[in-house]
Amino acid sequence: MAIYKLQINGQTYQVDVEPDTPLLWVLRDHLGLLGTKFGCGIALCGACTVHFNDQAVRACVFPVSAVGDAKITTIEGLSAQGDHPVQQAWNEVDVAQCGYCQAGQIMTAAALLKRNPNPSTEEIDTGMNGNICRCGTYHRIREAVTLAAAKLK
Ligand code: FES
Ligand code: FES
Repeated sequence: MAIYKLQINGQTYQVDVEPDTPLLWVLRDHLGLLGTKFGCGIALCGACTVHFNDQAVRACVFPVSAVGDAKITTIEGLSAQGDHPVQQAWNEVDVAQCGYCQAGQIMTAAALLKRNPNPSTEEIDTGMNGNICRCGTYHRIREAVTLAAAKLK
């Protein structure tokens, strides 16, 4: 076990865990941040996506020992009131069905728009295509990312 100080959603947390513990389990099991979901556990579905210094990463395969002093953002910290432009667009388009994949989708979309505020449809599809939705909400995700990009202008 080792002690790690983590910067998450603007707060400092301390955890005592094995170095290879995936960030996902630190978030969910040690810190009670349950918005980040477990899907596949092998970096294939995107349900566990969080931001590592504004870049989307898969928390299920990201060892806590690799976090260092990076700024981690989870769905709980994306915006104070759940009103990030991506979240607003998600509500307006009514993207979610069961909702299970949606926190990961939103985090991927927010990171995509951070690095490319004006993506083409192809760039949206490419940027989002690693996030799997078993309910098949892909067309609404595309619409919501387009709307969020317009809101960010
Ligand atoms: S749970 Fe991490 S990518 Fe599927
Ligand atoms: S909304 Fe159900 S898995 Fe995506």
